[in-house]
Amino acid sequence: MFINNMESIDINEKQYNLSSIEKDCWQRMINGVLQSRNQFHHPVVANSNAKGVNMRTVVLRDACAVEKKLRFYTDIRSGKWAEIQQYKAISWLFYDNEARIQIRASAMASLHQDDELANHAWANVNPNSRKNYSSLLRPSAEIIVSPDGMQETVAIADQKNEAGRENFGVVVSKLLSMEWLWLNPQCHYRANFIYDEQGDFTASWLVP
Ligand SMILES: Cc1cc2nc3c(=O)[nH]c(=O)nc-3n(C[C@H](O)[C@H](O)[C@H](O)COP(=O)(O)O)c2cc1C
Repeated sequence: MFINNMESIDINEKQYNLSSIEKDCWQRMINGVLQSRNQFHHPVVANSNAKGVNMRTVVLRDACAVEKKLRFYTDIRSGKWAEIQQYKAISWLFYDNEARIQIRASAMASLHQDDELANHAWANVNPNSRKNYSSLLRPSAEIIVSPDGMQETVAIADQKNEAGRENFGVVVSKLLSMEWLWLNPQCHYRANFIYDEQGDFTASWLVP
């Protein structure tokens, strides 16, 4: 780890330097995975496509502080899957309104479907959530039926909802960089972390 300035700041009467801020970011993202009401549970993920940029809210499914990886699940028939297959660079955006902390991260994505990682993840998706991957029509397809017929687009094939298995995909992303912004009422702070292949980082304070 290389840090260009060892100065620390006081956060809730604890001294934080760049290294402990980086750790704190990961702890916040891990809490976001584990706690459905945590403000980091629903980040925004953005990607490029041929027309420009696309973004959407997702559920944060895993955060690994050692490997510097974040992941979310999706239906492989959705537009984003093909887009990320082509343009692997994605961005994450988190904001905790109570802590007044924003985290932005750039990452390279890898897509997993019907492999060991995806099978393991699918085994832990509860039957109710599996319905999200079992619509007869692909996500974003136009529904040409009356509102009463909406439910016909959803296949409830069997009790365990194995029908969604083939549509289930995991997007794993390895962070290239992460930027932290704290809107402290007295003074705003901002820091940047650039990761190497091993997950080590160089860190610097930025003008907010
Ligand atoms: C709170 C919330 C959580 C969501 N979680 C996911 C998710 O984990 N995966 C996903 O593919 N879409 C999720 N969505 C839906 C996406 O935001 C988006 O509408 C959908 O995936 C279609 O995106 P696309 O057209 O860019 O592929 C979520 C939406 C909301 C509002």
